[in-house]
Amino acid sequence: MFKNSTSKEDKVQVALFGSGTGSNAETIIKTFKDHPTILPALVVSNKVDAGILNKAAFHNIPSAVISKEELQDQEKTIKVLADHKINFIVLAGFLLKIPSYLINAFPNKIINIHPALLPDFGGKGMYGMRVHEAVKRSGASKTGITIHYVDEVYDHGKVIFQRQIKLTPSDSPESIAQMVLKEEHEWYPKIIESLLHKG
Ligand code: GRF
Repeated sequence: MFKNSTSKEDKVQVALFGSGTGSNAETIIKTFKDHPTILPALVVSNKVDAGILNKAAFHNIPSAVISKEELQDQEKTIKVLADHKINFIVLAGFLLKIPSYLINAFPNKIINIHPALLPDFGGKGMYGMRVHEAVKRSGASKTGITIHYVDEVYDHGKVIFQRQIKLTPSDSPESIAQMVLKEEHEWYPKIIESLLHKG
């Protein structure tokens, strides 16, 4: 064994949680597939038919379906994560509230991305196009992305990173969504690396 080689066990093993398409998860998987210290080790979805599960299969990342009810089952959920030696959780379009036991089991080790500048346009029910439609309706001159730690209140934990996007009156919710997603794909992997890579 070479002295400075990193075995799978030594890497930060990341679980990606999502309920939808999984475009952020895929960007993260691609970025860290061959990374020396960070490993996308598991994809978790509450929806059997979520696109994120297809992305996991395509990239040969193990996946698990944990339903809304199962997520309340502490023993079961913790076992799934422990079986995959998970030590960090990245939410990427995960629509369920993270239960307290999971926050306590992963203190400051669960992060989320929100497609607006929190605390504006956040909270329960603010996800997907609803966010961009609300931004448009408000006439805001800017939106952006927020990466934050997860606590027990929706979209509330300590902010790690924000990036602004200027808006013009001609922007539509759809064009706003496109611009936001582009920034998410650029910044989420970078921020994950800055948090986890102790090289
Ligand atoms: C992203 O806009 C993210 O901010 C939000 O959900 C969306 C997920 O998109 N939390 P995708 O599933 O990564 O394509």
